[in-house]
Amino acid sequence: SLPVPIVQSLASGAAGVPVRYIRTDADAVPVVLDPDLEIPTVDFGRLLDPGSSRQESLKLHSACQDWGFFQLMNHNIPHELIERMKVDITEFFKLPSETKKEFSQLPGNLEGYGQLFVFSKDQKLDWGDMMYFHTQPLLRRNEDLWPTHPHTFRDTLDSYSSELYLLGKILLNVMATNLGINPEVMTNMLEEGVQSVRINYYPPCPQADKVIGFSPHSDGSLITWVLQVNEVQGLQIKKNDRWVPVKPLPGAFVVNIGDSFEILSNGKYRSIEHRAVVNPEKERLSIAAFHSPSLDTVIGPLPEIVGGGEANYKTLSNEHFMKLFLSSKLEGKSSLDRMKL
Ligand code: SIN
Ligand code: FE2
Repeated sequence: SLPVPIVQSLASGAAGVPVRYIRTDADAVPVVLDPDLEIPTVDFGRLLDPGSSRQESLKLHSACQDWGFFQLMNHNIPHELIERMKVDITEFFKLPSETKKEFSQLPGNLEGYGQLFVFSKDQKLDWGDMMYFHTQPLLRRNEDLWPTHPHTFRDTLDSYSSELYLLGKILLNVMATNLGINPEVMTNMLEEGVQSVRINYYPPCPQADKVIGFSPHSDGSLITWVLQVNEVQGLQIKKNDRWVPVKPLPGAFVVNIGDSFEILSNGKYRSIEHRAVVNPEKERLSIAAFHSPSLDTVIGPLPEIVGGGEANYKTLSNEHFMKLFLSSKLEGKSSLDRMKL
């Protein structure tokens, strides 16, 4: 991986937007938008209430099949914890760059403050900085890289990720039941796997319509939780070849199906391409939390789902799949396409 500049410093400088950030390719920003479509919402309280769970589960099931994305309302994560998380990360990015750099990524490692991997000097760059951490299992944590400013940060991230971990288990359990598979198959995969958190910071950009905050991609995870931290819109998902904006809904989490789950479900649940665009005047922040299978997990269509039918994807160890995932990224291809039979 090659070192790249901190975008926040570029954004506050006077030099303008470097060409490496300006998109000219088909990836370019103003692809047709469908501003009227909205991703479905699912009410977590109704999902757990025996009186309404049947109906709400159906809603969840269609959201996973037709959209691969939904907004989860009425979950039980304490409001004040979410607010603390929002305040702490916003405070972190306000710190002088020297302080932030104390928590920089080490060479070859994504964890810490910095950027996604950059593989070539011609590669277009995303208009955003990030922090990335492993949060579960505890053995995989590298707390040295967790910011100590603001002083509550470590504690807040610990509570935030633990709450999402528990909620993830419940949600996967319901999803597995909806698919007619043994819920333990999915919850074990979560428990034996890795939870990681990526905090995204997108500074305002004077040429916002020419850059991308986060290039189009699908997640490799089982499921992902996204918290849109402030009111600034930016997340867009691809639906019928158009970009559909995901409006920040106060109190909601955006949940999406990742590639691993699409493969395990033999394509019943969909991992959808998405991206983040930036705002000309306002900074935008988001937090993504991923549940990913461990490297030695076998990823392939589950026999319980395939039944007497055909498997639509290859079966590989997750380690192989992750290699394919990274090399596909390098070539701008979708790793899911390469898994299709
Ligand atoms: C992503 O995690 O793919 C982008 C999330 C966002 O910035 O909304
Ligand atoms: Fe993503």
